[in-house]
Amino acid sequence: MTDRKPVILCVDDEPLNLKLLNTILLHKGYDVKMAADGRAALKIVDAERVDLILLDIMLPEMDGFAVCRQIKEDERFKTLPVIMITALSDTESRIKGIEAGAEDFISKPFDAAEVLARIKMLLKMKGLNDDLLFAYNCIGDLTSFGEQAMQDFDPSNFSYLLNIDRIVNRLIRQNVSDLDKPNMVIIHTADESNNWHWLKYDLIGGHVVKSALDLSIECGNCPHLKSEEQIFSCANKEDMSEAGIDVFVSLLESKGIKVSNIIWYYGGKFCVFALNYGRPIRKHDTSILKNLVMQGLFLRSLSMQLSETENAFEYAVFALARASEANDEDTGNHIIRVGEYSALMAKALGMYEPFINAMRFQAPLHDVGKIHVHPDILKKKGKLTDDEFEAMKSHTIYGTKIIGSHERLLLAKNIAITHHERWDGTGYPTGLKGVEIPIEGRIVNIADQYDALRSSRPYKPAFDHKTTYQIITEGDGRTLPCHFDPDVLRAFIEAASRFEEVYERLKG
Ligand code: C2E
Ligand code: SIN
Ligand code: SIN
Ligand code: FE
Repeated sequence: MTDRKPVILCVDDEPLNLKLLNTILLHKGYDVKMAADGRAALKIVDAERVDLILLDIMLPEMDGFAVCRQIKEDERFKTLPVIMITALSDTESRIKGIEAGAEDFISKPFDAAEVLARIKMLLKMKGLNDDLLFAYNCIGDLTSFGEQAMQDFDPSNFSYLLNIDRIVNRLIRQNVSDLDKPNMVIIHTADESNNWHWLKYDLIGGHVVKSALDLSIECGNCPHLKSEEQIFSCANKEDMSEAGIDVFVSLLESKGIKVSNIIWYYGGKFCVFALNYGRPIRKHDTSILKNLVMQGLFLRSLSMQLSETENAFEYAVFALARASEANDEDTGNHIIRVGEYSALMAKALGMYEPFINAMRFQAPLHDVGKIHVHPDILKKKGKLTDDEFEAMKSHTIYGTKIIGSHERLLLAKNIAITHHERWDGTGYPTGLKGVEIPIEGRIVNIADQYDALRSSRPYKPAFDHKTTYQIITEGDGRTLPCHFDPDVLRAFIEAASRFEEVYERLKG
């Protein structure tokens, strides 16, 4: 507001009056536009920037009241003041003018000092109203940004850099005429791996373009490291050195980036510099930046906390899975490998990503019920007796009991109870057949057997990949191809070479 001359539109059909007003106003440093009738006036108001209107009542065709009414009906001109020009002591006209929405009146013949005083007062009022409206719009804008951010927020799939892009896109100017926003934003931040980046967002050809910026600042010289605190600050051209941003600004200028004003935020791992607002910076601008940055940091912190909780959950589940191996010293990484094979088959079956990940995470719990099976059985060197085998079978039922019925562990529960069921109905504990067996159980059935065959057990030696592949695909009497879901068997065949890789990588 303060960097350009206010524009005053004078509307009068008397050329002499226009000339007089023009002289008075130009002399005081205002920009003047003139119109000789109502239509011309409305056209100018619609298309150009006008800060105040001096409006005569007696106009050809459309009188001043009609012009005033029409302007006041338009949302865009809510804060545009109208001063009506009336004859001295014409009370009736003044009342009609108030009804039409005029802010003030001056009477002919003009008293220059009075005209200027009223204009000054109304422009000041308009400035305050504009500020208020601007602040109000900003609040609405920030609220909708916050709402959108919360709606789109997926803590398990949160990308810090994408979040920054969103913030910058909200902050930066999107078209050349939007002078309330900066035309460039520079970010200095550390990514998840603690590598620091300088990023520049620029308005180029009507699009925001992001690029890396080579500022060759050692981290030790980076301005944000001067202080541990979070700092928001801003500077127009004249107060840059006092604000301590002049060195950084010179550095930018040495890279060809001109800076007319700047707002910045220094935080621990995140700094923002918003440059070149199309007018002097106001207090609101700092608040907007602060708000956007805080929303972004809030989401980041939320996502970090949730992923910490998630990690703790996965850790606890894994610790439980390990318990099933306590009496089975030879199994080593068995449970991890079974998770990996299961994910490989789920992928080969075309399952969607969350399911694949859930299989990797939950299949390791398949044998958790073995905690209840006597170690003498599990460690027996020879073949099990019928009674021993019956006791061993109960690990499936104990497994589901231990896992319980939390929805996050639904796959694990189904896997524990069905991973020894067979497609032809000859499995245990229930003898389910075909698609009665949930897909997760059919998948782990093959994954588990592949790994048991590859590993040495107290009761059996380890087989190589080729022998194992043959036992599963062709059978060996104990294992038969008809035990397996044909689709899952095909998935195994498709992924078999990767099984071998997993075994090699995770044996030991
Ligand atoms: P596990 O050792 O983890 O074996 C899991 C599954 O892999 C077995 O389920 C079986 O389907 C397959 N498997 C394991 N070894 C061989 C093998 O040498 N040849 C063939 N064709 N398949 C094999 P299953 O039979 O229901 O056994 C479940 C669990 O019972 C086994 O888990 C193991 O803990 C125990 N178990 C089974 N048979 C014996 C045995 O003869 N002696 C002992 N000590 N334990 C046994
Ligand atoms: C998932 O999307 O997490 C797997 C589906 C399931 O839990 O049933
Ligand atoms: C995962 O944590 O990757 C699997 C999701 C789940 O089942 O909870
Ligand atoms: Fe089992």
